[in-house]
Amino acid sequence: MDGSSRAARILVASNRGPVAYSVGDDGELRSRRGGGGVVSGLSAIESDSASLWVCAALTEGDREAVRRGVAEPGSRMIAVDPDVFHAAYNDIANSVLWFVHHMLYQTPLEPAFDQDFRTEWAAYETYNAAFADALAEEAATGASVLVQDYHLALVPAMLRERRPDLRIGHFSHTPWAPPDYFRLLPDDIAVALLEGILGADRAAFLTRRWADAFAACCADVLGATVSADGREVTHRGRTTRLGVHGLGADADFLRERAHRDDVAEQMATLRAETGPGRRLIVRVDRTELSKNIVRGLYAYRRLLTDRPGWRSRVVHVAFAYPSRQDLAVYREYTQEVARVAEEINAEFGTADWQPVLLKVDDDFARSLAAYRLADVALVNPIRDGMNLVAKEMPVVSDNGVALVLSREAGAFEELGDDAIVVNPYDVSATAEALNTALTLPDAERADRTKRLAAAATALPPTQWFLDQLGALEA
Ligand code: G6P
Repeated sequence: MDGSSRAARILVASNRGPVAYSVGDDGELRSRRGGGGVVSGLSAIESDSASLWVCAALTEGDREAVRRGVAEPGSRMIAVDPDVFHAAYNDIANSVLWFVHHMLYQTPLEPAFDQDFRTEWAAYETYNAAFADALAEEAATGASVLVQDYHLALVPAMLRERRPDLRIGHFSHTPWAPPDYFRLLPDDIAVALLEGILGADRAAFLTRRWADAFAACCADVLGATVSADGREVTHRGRTTRLGVHGLGADADFLRERAHRDDVAEQMATLRAETGPGRRLIVRVDRTELSKNIVRGLYAYRRLLTDRPGWRSRVVHVAFAYPSRQDLAVYREYTQEVARVAEEINAEFGTADWQPVLLKVDDDFARSLAAYRLADVALVNPIRDGMNLVAKEMPVVSDNGVALVLSREAGAFEELGDDAIVVNPYDVSATAEALNTALTLPDAERADRTKRLAAAATALPPTQWFLDQLGALEA
């Protein structure tokens, strides 16, 4: 679709879009569906002429698609200069904002905001302005625009300046940092981020906890007024409503997809690899620092050390698909995961038992196979906006799954009652929780799985999207 049409009545904007392009050896463009919770939620947008999904060109293949004028129906990709994109996405969004909201800094050393940071911040502004320009060009008078996530925190205010007639919403898919931690950021940057989002008519979050943290930052950093019920923030004479929409799992899609032949084949392979009859502790994540994969492995090692009865009777299946590998700290973390897994295998493994089965690549059918076979799901993030894996596993599980869940995941708000809850830093307690999960009586496990699945599917992606839109337009 080409620009300047001012025809779209519903627009969404996100960094990652519905498809990613690559150029094949034959010079042809190939497209692949994008991944992640944001994409699965936003896919509910209709691909008709009144709707438009604006996203960034992330790769050389994407930029080539833009050059050739190729686009998915109902979407528009923005190709900013690759260096600007790199600074905005890798250096600011993923290395600063992601770290702040997930509280990942090791503060004696990091962060140290210097001149480079200022240059990168300018790129983040340029990248946000490119989105605001494109949305301003495409939106019909009075249209609704749903801006997504930390990559685009400045867009609401920038867009309001360009098009005061629009209804603007912002949705955060991450946690929001509490004020004391948020204040790590240079003062002017902290102000810019909050005022950027407050440019929206409505700012929404995955849980009440993150919405409250945002409101607390507005009060603390900006001196904004928060209403007594915490549902509105007023700053410089404008009021922004706060909302909560807990994105749920897509039960229909998952159950159908999980019963196709390729998943059955993967289940057979997985059974052969892990050995018949062994219990499976399963985790599926991006190779993401906040997912806490290494402490999960430590907890498993502690279980095998303290409770030798489990040796050779259990396998820890860890699927971690590569993410953000442009960043050294992500590459190092991925290596550390592999190193610790090998250590455990060397320490406990026998001729016919490999204690950890780690796979570092992306294979959705294989993940679904592991979901179906899992006895225990390990979801122990340091902090997580929601964590959809915790919601997906109970939905597709064949025989019931016991969920070990971090209290710092957004999903805890909805699933906490039927999960075995852990402090993600407490390795010994996580080991004990794994033992509790492995020994849960079958009937209780089945009951809990049923309740978990019901809670996990309370707000399917389509409804999540429509609720956001409805609340913005109300
Ligand atoms: C999180 C973020 C999303 C992001 C996804 C994958 O869920 O909230 O905005 O798309 O992670 O990360 P990536 O950097 O690969 O887009």
